[in-house]
Amino acid sequence: MTVKSLAIIGTGVMGMGIAQIAAQAGIQVLLFDAKAGAAAQGRQSLQTTLEKLAAKGKFTDEQLQSTLSNLTVIEEIAKIAEVDVVIEAIIENLEIKQQLFKQLESIVPAETILATNTSSLAVTAIASNCQHPERVAGFHFFNPVPLMKIVEVIPGLSTKSSVVETLTDLAKRMGHLGVVAKDTPGFIVNHGGRAYGTEALKILGEGIASFEDIDRILREGAGFRMGPFELL
Ligand SMILES: NC(=O)c1ccc[n+]([C@@H]2O[C@H](COP(=O)([O-])OP(=O)(O)OC[C@H]3O[C@@H](n4cnc5c(N)ncnc54)[C@H](O)[C@@H]3O)[C@@H](O)[C@H]2O)c1
Repeated sequence: MTVKSLAIIGTGVMGMGIAQIAAQAGIQVLLFDAKAGAAAQGRQSLQTTLEKLAAKGKFTDEQLQSTLSNLTVIEEIAKIAEVDVVIEAIIENLEIKQQLFKQLESIVPAETILATNTSSLAVTAIASNCQHPERVAGFHFFNPVPLMKIVEVIPGLSTKSSVVETLTDLAKRMGHLGVVAKDTPGFIVNHGGRAYGTEALKILGEGIASFEDIDRILREGAGFRMGPFELL
């Protein structure tokens, strides 16, 4: 399936980042947030960012206008009924996500893909209350989304392979590399990446180096954007 439209549920940091790359790729994006006015505010601040980037010559006025025209705020969740994919980026709470997925299933048809941007919850658990868990998958982006050009595509226990293929293809169209990961704690990136933080704390605790030096070594010696203490 070629995705033409998607809905973002939860227009915070991650939701708006995903909305940006989708709209820039020519996909129609509906923006919904449970907090009144939050989706409009998210769209407005994205517009300000995009206008600044256009003024710096990062893209043309035509590209700016076409991206903005792809971003639509909705105040009622029922308006997502016809999108191809729903991407959930709400609070990291299993029960709330499970309730939302149940609600989403009451709005969209059985073939609509439901994706979650969860960082730490099991995709299988999020899908466990669904009537059609085969269309649920993880789609785990990193912050800031437009700059971190990788996304984990995570099938739950029941997810159909066509869902994984569609999301991997969607990632590519949005300029990102989709990497298929198992539904295990931390998936790939956070599983590996967390070790830097705990090891850095151990090195500091053992008095081997100061936190400034540990950060500097990883920045200047290993090419990290931020050291583990800056990240913490
Ligand atoms: N921030 C990160 O670095 C990061 C990276 C990868 C994944 N994630 C994951 O992405 C998700 C969102 O994180 P974020 O940092 O963007 O959070 P955020 O707090 O910036 O945004 C969450 C938004 O969801 C809205 N919301 C909460 N409950 C809702 C509901 N039931 N229905 C609709 N909207 C609701 C809130 O009003 C808020 O605007 C979480 O699952 C998080 O674990 C975050």
